[in-house]
Amino acid sequence: MKIENSLPILLLAIPLFFMMQIGHTSPVEEHVVSYSGFQVWTVATNTDEERSALLKYVQLYVPKPFQKELGKKLSEANITFVIKIADLKEVIKNENANIKTSTFSKSKSAHNMNWTSYHRLADIYDYMSYLAATYPSLVSLINIGSSYEKRPLYVLRISNSSSLCSKPVIWIDGGIHAREWISPAVTTYIIKQLVEVSANSKMLFDVDWYIMPVMNPDGYEYTHVYNRLWRKTRSMTSSPSCRGVDPNRNFGFKWGGLGTSTNPCSDIYKGTKAFSEPETLATSNFILGKANQIKMYLTLHSYGQSALIPWGYDVAYPNDYNDMLALAKSAVSKFLKYKFSVGNSAALYYPAAGGSDDWAKSIGIKYSYTFELADTGTYGFLLPASNILPVAQDFFPALGVFATKVATLKI
Ligand code: ARG
Ligand code: ZN
Repeated sequence: MKIENSLPILLLAIPLFFMMQIGHTSPVEEHVVSYSGFQVWTVATNTDEERSALLKYVQLYVPKPFQKELGKKLSEANITFVIKIADLKEVIKNENANIKTSTFSKSKSAHNMNWTSYHRLADIYDYMSYLAATYPSLVSLINIGSSYEKRPLYVLRISNSSSLCSKPVIWIDGGIHAREWISPAVTTYIIKQLVEVSANSKMLFDVDWYIMPVMNPDGYEYTHVYNRLWRKTRSMTSSPSCRGVDPNRNFGFKWGGLGTSTNPCSDIYKGTKAFSEPETLATSNFILGKANQIKMYLTLHSYGQSALIPWGYDVAYPNDYNDMLALAKSAVSKFLKYKFSVGNSAALYYPAAGGSDDWAKSIGIKYSYTFELADTGTYGFLLPASNILPVAQDFFPALGVFATKVATLKI
């Protein structure tokens, strides 16, 4: 994938412009956004003029009233475009075709997780409780605080030792961004592998794991019920018609720098101050409490198939960047089905300050990475649920590489 021409930029910038059309019809945003009539277009530009006309190679979420006019304008400018998704509503409908509601199937088995569908928060939290109850010597469920809308924030500790601080720790989080559904899906798959598959027990010998599948539960639920493409938290802002802060612009390192917005209606709104959001505050405080032990910080996002290395606030490199690069490369070399790019976050994607990865690195966690999971833009955030297992299975072996390295680090 040509990263400089990559899609996520647009998803931060342009869709806002178009999606504001929706927002304006419903300032309170409590009704369902259906994406009826939307198409998804990928637009290629070749010359500087074309680029300045459209900023970059972008993916546009184009509502019906704009389609004809924009198509005509692009054609007139000789800008090629492909209608990648002709009916966005249909793709959203099919993405999670297998989903069952909790009440329906719960009584049959101990939990509802199946990794062939994307699950509601209740299923994920029930699974975490189930594991803690079923494997008490291996798993503990830690409530680290509450979201803006008062949902609990849960971290699962997986450790085969009773002592709380004997081993180096790998932290993994998912679901910082609400619409990146593959992230909590892969994160819960990792939990299952570590806890319930005995062939993986060697990954617990020398390392403890702290895993938070859904850092932004309010946003995650909002994407299931109201707006599939919601990214941020759900906190109130100074603008009555715009809610939410980008949690990955809200961490307290270089907060408010490049690639952030002061506009509460923006998808990259940084918030009123670093850690303004209860979700980022609780997470960072918990990590700080274990900072000596945590040797690796992994955060799972989508999409783009990249391993991003700090710094992300600007094209800048930590002193030990080459250590981070070498380890990322050897981890990514385990992937058979999905090819990943590896490199500096700001160089490969775009500068964006206030990210969790940069913050983790800044407090001394040597190995800090953002993984942008599949795909590279065909479905983007709307990756059909049939891809969960292939993506998760391809990813899991990287953790073996990481665990082996982290096991050698002194706490
Ligand atoms: N797609 C991610 C985001 O926009 C990338 C974050 C990479 N890390 C960073 N510190 N910029 O949030
Ligand atoms: Zn993300």
